[in-house]
Amino acid sequence: MSIRRLPSELVNRIAAGEVVERPASALKELVENALDAGSATIRIRLTAGGLEMVEVVDDGCGMAPDEMRLALERHATSKLPDDVLDRVTSFGFRGEALPSIASVSRFTLESRVQGKDGWRIEIDHGVAVGEGPASVPPGTCVRIEALFDKVPARRKFLRSSRAEYGACLDSVKRLAMARSDVAFVLEHDGRRILSLQPTTPPQRVAELLSAELDRNGIGIECERNGMGLTGVVSLPTFNRGMADQQYLFVNARPVKDRLLVGALRGAYRDLIARDRYPIAALFLSVPLEDVDVNVHPAKTEVRFRDPTAVRGMIVGGIRAALDEASQKSATREQAAAPVLWTTSASFDERLNRVPTSAAAPPQWAPAGATAVLAEARALFDHPPPAARAEMAIAEVPQYPLGVARGQVSATYIIAEAEDGLVIVDQHAAHERLVLERMRAAREGGSVARQPLLMPEVVDLEEPDCDRLETAADELAELGLEVERFGSSSILVRATPAALGKTDIRGLLTDLAAELAEFGSAFSLQEKLDHVAATIACHGSVRAGRVLSVTEMNALLREMEVTPRSGQCNHGRPTWVKLGHAEMEKLFGRR
Ligand SMILES: Nc1ncnc2c1ncn2[C@@H]1O[C@H](COP(=O)(O)OP(=O)(O)OP(=O)(O)O)[C@@H](O)[C@H]1O
Ligand SMILES: [Mg+2]
Repeated sequence: MSIRRLPSELVNRIAAGEVVERPASALKELVENALDAGSATIRIRLTAGGLEMVEVVDDGCGMAPDEMRLALERHATSKLPDDVLDRVTSFGFRGEALPSIASVSRFTLESRVQGKDGWRIEIDHGVAVGEGPASVPPGTCVRIEALFDKVPARRKFLRSSRAEYGACLDSVKRLAMARSDVAFVLEHDGRRILSLQPTTPPQRVAELLSAELDRNGIGIECERNGMGLTGVVSLPTFNRGMADQQYLFVNARPVKDRLLVGALRGAYRDLIARDRYPIAALFLSVPLEDVDVNVHPAKTEVRFRDPTAVRGMIVGGIRAALDEASQKSATREQAAAPVLWTTSASFDERLNRVPTSAAAPPQWAPAGATAVLAEARALFDHPPPAARAEMAIAEVPQYPLGVARGQVSATYIIAEAEDGLVIVDQHAAHERLVLERMRAAREGGSVARQPLLMPEVVDLEEPDCDRLETAADELAELGLEVERFGSSSILVRATPAALGKTDIRGLLTDLAAELAEFGSAFSLQEKLDHVAATIACHGSVRAGRVLSVTEMNALLREMEVTPRSGQCNHGRPTWVKLGHAEMEKLFGRR
């Protein structure tokens, strides 16, 4: 085996493997260069999602011909004038992007410094193919064609032009949010997609994020320990099935940093289901010396000197805003609810589909009556539905959630309030109450526990036992007393009293899964909150349990006095109200 230095062309191609993964990553590098060059307007053109062509034209400082040649050499940069790497404010600093991209594409660089002549350099997959004068406006134009044409291994991993276009659009949006003072124009296959004028950061974010965020978003603004956080996040009830609308910035650099993503998730703990994601645009500012941007070749991750402080500030800041807005979300759900209601028209249609096995109704019966009759008969052929009715009393006491009138499907409580009809999801509501009760007890330092007469032994996998054993002190704080019992069992001595009789094995399995998700940056407070939410879910009245009227009313009264009871631990509403006015509308009385 002989050791040799690799030719520079090959070195560049290797570097390209890290920085240029797909058209969107090349585009990101070019736009960052344009921003670093002090451009006021950046024009981007793509064809076939960037697979055929990516072009970025800027009106920045431009380069003289010899600078252009140097820019295409590896490790050549103008951005570290003092050789200081720990206070970087430009997007670039590695001096690698241009030579890397030029090694895996057909590459054209045109540039002109104001008041000088323009120049053009062309490179084909790392090989210079020509250069000469060019009549171009001041600034720089970089065009990339045939990306990865000679790198089949990479080409294979490219997706459809539609998917690549999506990624390109995402890259542009992130950088456009980072620099709202710069104008951006984006064209794809000749169509104008974006045309953004310089504006304020909130305005830019509003232009690029879902328009519904005006009504469903909350502004964030907080400061702590010399750090600041601003931006907007969605209400827990306004969430998505993918984390694709989370735009995070550290000192105006777009990042996809795991710590920040985790902190955002942490702020929504017990407000949103595990497979749902909030929308967010968050701008974190930290002193330059407290963050290292040189940890990832594409610079999408950073390292903080004090990750716990960063996480604490993000979780705390967002959580406070969400708590404040929790009232707001309940009201909004109420307003949105009527659209979910069945009108008598659609109800008729449903009745008409009930098969009429019974004898034909009298000839004179109107069409609707046929169906009603059929359903009435069907009722006696099948077990009655699980609904009961309380007689309406003349006077309705002034409880916001009203008095219970009955239960439907052993799942929903129907109550009459002074101003309308209330439907409560009993499981969702109760789960929330148990959680809030546990939280209040914990804050008051007195969580009631229920010792088991016979301690229960639960067999679990060894790593799960390890996790539960490590968390034993925290669990005890919540009333759950566990002890290690051999290599793959846990002994349970007491359970939280709030829980009642429960499936202990199921609870421990869920808790172990929860604990497995925690990273080291989680605060004790957060861990306890997670664990409490899992316990609450186990301790709650299930859907399908028949409740007495007294139980139903007790639940309603407790909801009225419990904070955040308007939404369940997964961000869905726990109740909806149909006002008298809306009822009248439904029946055409108005
Ligand atoms: N659009 C542009 N306008 C003016 N100068 C540019 C432009 N693009 C690149 N340059 C010059 O070329 C140099 C090399 O660019 P390149 O992107 O390869 O490296 P970098 O931006 O310094 O670092 P990084 O690899 O981290 O992006 C830059 O430092 C800059 O001086
Ligand atoms: Mg660069």
